[in-house]
Amino acid sequence: MNAKTILGIETSCDETAAAIVQKRGNRVQIISNIVASSAILQAKYGGIIPEQAAREQLKSIIPVISEALEQAGFKPRDLDAIAVTQGPGLIGSLLVGVETAKTLALIWNKPLIPVSHLIGHFYANWIQTDNNNPPTFPCIGLLVSGGHTDLVLFKSYTEYEYLGGTRDDAAGECFDKCARILGLPYPGGPQISKLAQKGNSKAFKLPRPMFGSDDFDFSFSGLKTAVANLIQNLPTNHEPIINNQLADLCASIEQAIIDPLVKKTVQAAQIYKVEQIIIAGGVASNLKLRNELEKNCKLKIVNCKFSVPPPELCTDNAAMVASAAFYFEPAKNPLKIQADPNLSLAY
Ligand code: KG4
Ligand code: ZN
Repeated sequence: MNAKTILGIETSCDETAAAIVQKRGNRVQIISNIVASSAILQAKYGGIIPEQAAREQLKSIIPVISEALEQAGFKPRDLDAIAVTQGPGLIGSLLVGVETAKTLALIWNKPLIPVSHLIGHFYANWIQTDNNNPPTFPCIGLLVSGGHTDLVLFKSYTEYEYLGGTRDDAAGECFDKCARILGLPYPGGPQISKLAQKGNSKAFKLPRPMFGSDDFDFSFSGLKTAVANLIQNLPTNHEPIINNQLADLCASIEQAIIDPLVKKTVQAAQIYKVEQIIIAGGVASNLKLRNELEKNCKLKIVNCKFSVPPPELCTDNAAMVASAAFYFEPAKNPLKIQADPNLSLAY
């Protein structure tokens, strides 16, 4: 079977990413994968400033796409289609990718496939690595990123049912906000999980809202408030106390975020009788979450295969967007594609 080749473009948040991805049979392979991030600026300002992110993306989008083609050794004529993240995300950022993709589709005469960023995250699981097998259907998918926490039942490549999600902050947002309270740089997830490795996750008693609720929803804003209160109630000169117990506090925060994610994902797999769990999104690169889900999947009463992309494919990238695009239809009129900042998995 001939390979199909797609150029993916992703600019939903602060990254500017382009990738060339090929599909042979049911195996999806990365040919090139370029990600330019404004992480240095975010660390300086403690987060993303939307207008600044979009301005940086405007500067990098063409060089990033050129680099993806060059590294692959491909010319535009070698592409079968272009795929672009349509939403959700920051409107200024999305517009950079969508309008560039529309222009390239027009001048290169290629079909243009709009992709949901959230669906794209899941499809990173279908990208071939050294030792993975493509996930099988039906499966339970947990998306945990900076803006989203969603639990989905995938019935096929294109059919899914939304089971639940966060009612307030996303899991990644909770990591980031707790880190900010502790004076750690953005993005906070990797910082907290690194410090947590040396800490005791039972040292601080932190809340796990909705842990026992009879649904597949999550809530993380109470945890952030509890951490803020804990710091506020310390004596005025509290820095030495925080420094002494920082690893313990980080381990306790990490555990409080992971516990409901693991519990409800495993519960969904049992209730819907699936034999496969997949996870995706920036927080899926968290080692503790990966290990705990994998351990639970091996339990006799769960007995599920577990799939998670390599860490560099969990955070935002364009290979995941191209990987999803193989299963979706191109737009009838590419010029009518509109960036949609509020695109959602729930319907
Ligand atoms: O998927 P992503 O790159 O961007 C969005 O679509 O939001 O996710 C970014 C989020 C950030 O909140 C970041 O703190 C979190 O993923 N993250 C982590 C880890 N690596 C990234 N959270 C916990 N542990 C990590 N190792
Ligand atoms: Zn993302």
